[in-house]
Amino acid sequence: MALQQLNIHRVRNIQAASLPRFARINVCFGENGSGKTSILEAIHLLGMARSFRGTSARTLITHGHPDCIVQGAVARSGGARKLLGVQRLLNGEVSLRVQGAPARAVSELVDHLPLQVINADSFALLTGSPPARRQYLNWGVFHVEHRFFPEWQRFQRCIKQRNSGLRRDRLADRELSVWTRELAESGQRLNSYRQAYFADLAPLFRSLMDRLLPQLGELELRLRQGWDKRLSYGEALAATLASDREKGFTQVGPQRADLKVVIDGRAAEDVLSRGQQKLVICGLKLAQGQLMQDRAQKQCIYLVDDLPSELDAQHNRRVCEELDRLGAQVFITCVAQDDLADQWSQAQDLAMFHVEHGEVTEQSFGETSLDPAAAGAK
Ligand SMILES: Nc1ncnc2c1ncn2[C@@H]1O[C@H](COP(=O)(O)OP(=O)(O)OP(=O)(O)O)[C@@H](O)[C@H]1O
Ligand SMILES: [Mg+2]
Repeated sequence: MALQQLNIHRVRNIQAASLPRFARINVCFGENGSGKTSILEAIHLLGMARSFRGTSARTLITHGHPDCIVQGAVARSGGARKLLGVQRLLNGEVSLRVQGAPARAVSELVDHLPLQVINADSFALLTGSPPARRQYLNWGVFHVEHRFFPEWQRFQRCIKQRNSGLRRDRLADRELSVWTRELAESGQRLNSYRQAYFADLAPLFRSLMDRLLPQLGELELRLRQGWDKRLSYGEALAATLASDREKGFTQVGPQRADLKVVIDGRAAEDVLSRGQQKLVICGLKLAQGQLMQDRAQKQCIYLVDDLPSELDAQHNRRVCEELDRLGAQVFITCVAQDDLADQWSQAQDLAMFHVEHGEVTEQSFGETSLDPAAAGAK
């Protein structure tokens, strides 16, 4: 999967940018406030219909304008090109297009343009609340298990109905038991997809961490499914029925699932330094990219903002090596043109984009090497 071209209109300080081609490794460089993150944001908008910096359209759209538009072409290697388009209006309206025709759901975009973001907000994956980790998990399962998404929608419907049944009086008992049964079946299936995904993800994550942070202690990724694992979901729902009625909502289930990274028996977020946390996050995100390739023969695109912050040169290089090894397309930001020279000196398919006051200029393209020796030899 690769982004082949991108048109940006009115995203933050980028009034208009037309980028007709990309390489596998795309470096956006420029001074603070020049618009580098805004380019990554525009790509994110194309794949997710929203920014990774909050959901408000008001902050995303260039001040004084009513809308922003991003259009792009993506292609699977050897596959047909798909044209995607997203428009966001100040009033919150969103319109999505795939091949020129209106798309109904964001999931259509996500399917065509699977994105992984590595930035300062990625710390939420370790230190934030469970929804960030469930989102991470769901993203992965969505891309490798086509039955997951319809099941997830079914589950949402069932839990909504059950919760509203729980809040009503006893007359709703029959209805409640119907929804409980449906929920139990759906939740059990959802959990089985997550468990199967997790069983493949955990060893990939461990071997990535062996390369990124070999000196780290005994590392373990754990999945909490959201209820006592000795019980079926139906049994767990039966056991909590009385208390669910009291509280007026379903307390156990896949909606409470969580992931935990444990090192030598302790929670990673409690023992790791900031840089080590960042490497664990990179490990988690790279493992998903690897698994998607292995299981779905699809590649995700990495949006990497400000990688060097918190990482020393050696670990910075290791992350870049892993990104390179994955063979995925990467969009990465840095301040000065040669900031990433050390990391990508061997990269064969590389493009550099200079960003200045919202203007984006391609510097050099394709078969380019950042290696000064190679450049001198030309
Ligand atoms: N809605 C908006 N309309 C116009 N300009 C905006 C809007 N929101 C932010 N900006 C400006 O856009 C510019 C680009 O921001 P961006 O975050 O992309 O910069 P950057 O190159 O990533 O900088 P840094 O190196 O500091 O991360 C900033 O100068 C910012 O003030
Ligand atoms: Mg930035």
